[in-house]
Amino acid sequence: MTEKEFNRLVEFLESKYGINLAAKKAIVQGRLDNYLARNGFSNYNDYLNAVESDRTGHELQNMLNILTTNHTYFWREPDHFVFLRDVILPWACKKEQNTHNLRIWSGASSSGEEPYTIAMVVKDFLGLNYSNWDSTLLATDLSSEVLHYAMKGVYLKEKIEVLPPTWQRANFKRIDDYNYRVSDELRKHVMFRQFNLMNDFPFRSKMHCVFLRNVMIYFSEDTKRTLVNKIYNVMEPGGYFIIGNTESIDKDATRFEYVRPSIFRKPM
Ligand SMILES: C[S@@+](CC[C@H](N)C(=O)[O-])C[C@H]1O[C@@H](n2cnc3c(N)ncnc32)[C@H](O)[C@@H]1O
Repeated sequence: MTEKEFNRLVEFLESKYGINLAAKKAIVQGRLDNYLARNGFSNYNDYLNAVESDRTGHELQNMLNILTTNHTYFWREPDHFVFLRDVILPWACKKEQNTHNLRIWSGASSSGEEPYTIAMVVKDFLGLNYSNWDSTLLATDLSSEVLHYAMKGVYLKEKIEVLPPTWQRANFKRIDDYNYRVSDELRKHVMFRQFNLMNDFPFRSKMHCVFLRNVMIYFSEDTKRTLVNKIYNVMEPGGYFIIGNTESIDKDATRFEYVRPSIFRKPM
């Protein structure tokens, strides 16, 4: 891949999806070379022309599936789930005691481990009242491939073993010695949709809590600032915004109150 071709790809991805891969040429090339060879493209310019002119969106979707980094796992960064159980849910449930409507969004849900973990925490917290609440959470991602996986809800046994045994039994069905499927009940409580965080947010109701973990590391400071502001605008007063433990947001450039590292709150 020539420098010019690489720059064209970097600019395309950054302007449309916020993803900044300028420092990752070797990774990008490592992931795409094979695809180009298998699909008969002799150079990157032809390939990028095809991505940009394909009206079906198929080439573009394949590229996003290849270039997004989707690493995730159940019960990742557990302090966030403890905070959800001990602080966010008590606050949100009190606030919504008359409507019984909880609104949580996992904005970079990848293959589903994060939103399903949130759904299990909510289910456990609501206990016998679970069926009286509308607690379906929204889970979105850019990559169609991970969303497809998430909707199927089938995971390797070793992936779910980090969860408490009672949760494993209550929320997963054994398929065979290696694979387990998320229960129908839990799957019904997570609504997966494809969504690009760079687009305008179409939500009609305000969120009590937004998880946006381990995605902004791929975005530039400017993109992050705009995105955090958009998130602020779709949150309930008092709503909580959670980012990855290794991420940060510029405290001077946001109206969110700092609660603790990686947790922020919209003022009441
Ligand atoms: C590393 S995963 C994070 C998964 C999960 N939040 C966690 O912390 O375990 C990052 C996800 O962000 C998604 N992503 C990257 N850019 C995006 C964008 N512009 N809009 C929506 N999702 C995006 C990727 O497809 C990927 O699945």
